[in-house]
Amino acid sequence: MGKILVTGGAGYIGSHTVVVLLEAGYDVCIVDDLSASDGQLLNGINIITGKKPVFAKLNICDYTSFNLFCRQHAPFDGVIHFAAYKSVNESVEKPLDYYNNNLMGMINVLQMMNEYDIPRLVFSSSCSVYGQPKILPVTELEPLGSPQSPYANTKKICEDMIADVCRVSPQIHATILRYFNPIGAHPSAQIGELPTGVPNNLVPYLTQTAAGQRPFLSVFGNDYDTPDGSCIRDFIHVDDLAHAHLSALRFTPTHSPEVFNIGTGNGISVFELLHAFEEATGVKIPVRLSPRRHGDVEQVWANPNKAKKMLGWEAKYALHDALLSAWNWQKSLDSFENKLP
Ligand code: NAD
Ligand code: WQD
Repeated sequence: MGKILVTGGAGYIGSHTVVVLLEAGYDVCIVDDLSASDGQLLNGINIITGKKPVFAKLNICDYTSFNLFCRQHAPFDGVIHFAAYKSVNESVEKPLDYYNNNLMGMINVLQMMNEYDIPRLVFSSSCSVYGQPKILPVTELEPLGSPQSPYANTKKICEDMIADVCRVSPQIHATILRYFNPIGAHPSAQIGELPTGVPNNLVPYLTQTAAGQRPFLSVFGNDYDTPDGSCIRDFIHVDDLAHAHLSALRFTPTHSPEVFNIGTGNGISVFELLHAFEEATGVKIPVRLSPRRHGDVEQVWANPNKAKKMLGWEAKYALHDALLSAWNWQKSLDSFENKLP
C-alpha cells in the first residue's frame, strides 16, 4: 500500500487516522514531540490494530532531528501533517508560540517533501479560516475573512505556503482538509480526546461534567440570531474524519492544492447537542447560561459536496453515535479522574 509519514500521530485526530491507515494496510511512521499528548494513544493504536507503527519523539521544528528521521525511514509515499498547537484561546495569549510551532513545523514538512521526494501531502486545516461565513452552508469558494485568532491565522498562512510551494513543485500533490468540529472517539474506546488542562471545547467539557468532574456546563451565549439563541456548529465524528484522510491519500488532485470541507453538512446548535447527549446517554447535564465567549462565530456548518464528489467521502455516523462514543471514552478514563486540574 505504501508508507506514510504522520506528524502529530500521537494526538487526537492523528491516532484515529493512524488506526485507519494501518487497517487499510499502510505502513506508518509517526513523529510527535508529545507536547500535547502522552504515550496513551499510541498504546491504544497497538491494542486496536495489533500493529506497532514506527514512532519517534521529536519536535518537527528541529530541522536536524526531523531530517535525520526522514533519512532513516525514506522513501515515503505521503505525509499527513497534523502536528500543531490547536487552542484558539491560548493562541491569543501566546501568539509567538503558535506562529513559531505551526509555521516552522509546516516549513520543515515542505522541506522534507522536497528533500525526500515525498509526492503527497494531506494537511489539517480548520473551518476557523472562514471566520463568520456570509453564506451557509459554507463552500470552499467562500472568500476567507480576516482570521479571528493567531491560531486561525497560522492555518491560513500554512494553506498559502502549500499553494506557493505547489506552484513551483508540480510533483507535489497536496490536499487541504478543513475540518469542522471533530468529536467522539474510536468505537473501541481505546483512543479518544485527551484535553490538557481545562477543556476549551464543548464535548470534552460536557463529558467531564456528565462524569461529575465539573459542576456544570456553561453555555456561552443564548442571544445569538439562531433559532434557539445558541451558536451552531458542524460536529463530525473523529472516525469519519480519519477516513477522510484515507480518501485524500488515494486522491490525485489535478490542481494542487485542492481544498475540501470535512463536515457532515448539518448545523447543530449547542442546546441541540446537549439534548442529543442527554438522550443518547440518559445522563442529565447541569447547565448555566453564561455570556458570549469572545471570538466565537455565531454559526458555521459545511457544504461537504465537493468531498463527496471528488474524494468519494462522506460522513456516516449519526450525532448520537458520536456523542455516545465520547461518553464511552470518558467512562474508560475514570481511573484518571483524580488527575484532573
Ligand atoms: P492534538 O493536540 O491532539 O494533536 C496534535 C499532536 O501534535 C499532539 O500529539 C502534539 O504532541 C503534536 N505536536 C504539536 N506540535 C508538534 C511539533 N512541533 N513536533 C511534533 N509534534 C508536535 O490535536 P488534534 O485535535 O489531533 O489536531 C490535529 C490537527 O488538526 C492540528 O493541526 C489541529 O490544528 C487540526 N485541527 C483540529 C481540530 C480540533 O477541533 N481538534 C479542528 C480543526 C483542525
Ligand atoms: C463550540 C460551541 C462555544 C464550550 C474551535 C476552533 C476550531 C476547531 C474546533 C481547531 C461554541 C460553545 C463551548 C463550553 C459552550 N479547533 N461552548 N460551552 O469554538 O467552534 O471551534 O475548536 O482547529 O478551529 O475554533 O469549538 O467546541 O470550543 O465550541 O457553550 O464550555 O460550543 O461557545 O459555540 P469552536 P468549541
